[in-house]
Amino acid sequence: MSAREIVLTGITTTGTPHLGNYVGAIRPAVAASRRPDVQSYYFLADLHALVKNSDPAAIHRSTLEIAATWLALGLDVKRAVFYRQSDIPEIPELTWILTAATAKGLMNRAHAYKAAVQANEESGSPDPDRGVTMALYCYPILMAADILLFSANRVPVGQDQKQHVEMARDIAQRWNHHYGERFVLPEAEIGTDTAVLQGLDGRKMSKSYDNTIPLFAPPDRLRKLVMKIKTNSLEPGIPKETEGSTLFEIYRAFARPEEVDAMRGRFAAGAGWGEIKQALFDYLDAHLRDSRAEYERLIAAPDYVESVLRQGAERARAVATPFLAEIRRAVGISRLG
Ligand code: TRP
Repeated sequence: MSAREIVLTGITTTGTPHLGNYVGAIRPAVAASRRPDVQSYYFLADLHALVKNSDPAAIHRSTLEIAATWLALGLDVKRAVFYRQSDIPEIPELTWILTAATAKGLMNRAHAYKAAVQANEESGSPDPDRGVTMALYCYPILMAADILLFSANRVPVGQDQKQHVEMARDIAQRWNHHYGERFVLPEAEIGTDTAVLQGLDGRKMSKSYDNTIPLFAPPDRLRKLVMKIKTNSLEPGIPKETEGSTLFEIYRAFARPEEVDAMRGRFAAGAGWGEIKQALFDYLDAHLRDSRAEYERLIAAPDYVESVLRQGAERARAVATPFLAEIRRAVGISRLG
């Protein structure tokens, strides 16, 4: 067993990566993967995608886009273990073993399930579980298996996933208590506020609000989207607040501190919104140009991306297979002679 800290996170394969994903998750993860004291596991959570999305083509396309994005941004796949969840059969097997040790009452308390029930009650539906699949209900157990299979110490996630990591911890604790200590108790690591980017309408950038800027949009589309970012109606010549400005926040998430100070100066000096938008577009376009070219190359080479994921899966299974064998023995499933 390696003494290095194990950091693990999953990316659900729904949608196209956007600036908010980059700042909040991808950039810190790629940086962490280079640290010698950390062993990172990053995976494409396509089994989780089935819960939210019933469009097969969209899930398939998103898998390629997310893999190509992480690779284009410099994820070092020699260091980090980068794989696709569905390539690891040990994950669904462990899910079942954990399901047998998970209280139904724990799942009743999951925020996503409770929100679905509440929406049904508010809409006057006679069935509180209307539209709730068993996959939605058991989602936290699959996530616990993702985490516990690789003995993760730290799990970087958004605030909305914190409860799931705590549930993984609860499930592990209960299992360990019954069968003996095998699972490491994971800890959620929540990004700071600055890691949450605002979207086109000023709310948190999120695919569920349909207010995102795709990270690798072609320049003309990127420009159009930046021009759509919501501002107030102050005229050129009037000093502007940086506080709460989506344009400023996005710029700050990318630029160096001295560039951010200069931008603050332009706000104070009353630069017009059109001019600030153009400056933000120019900055993003220049900053993303090289990785965008690499992304486009990878999207056009799905066989290559597939081979990278297959190699990642092999490395992941080198850990998962012996570990699951131990878990199977612990619960009484093993050879007879
Ligand atoms: N549920 C997470 C999300 O929607 C993705 C995910 C799946 C995950 N398995 C995980 C994150 C394990 C961390 C660890 O964002």
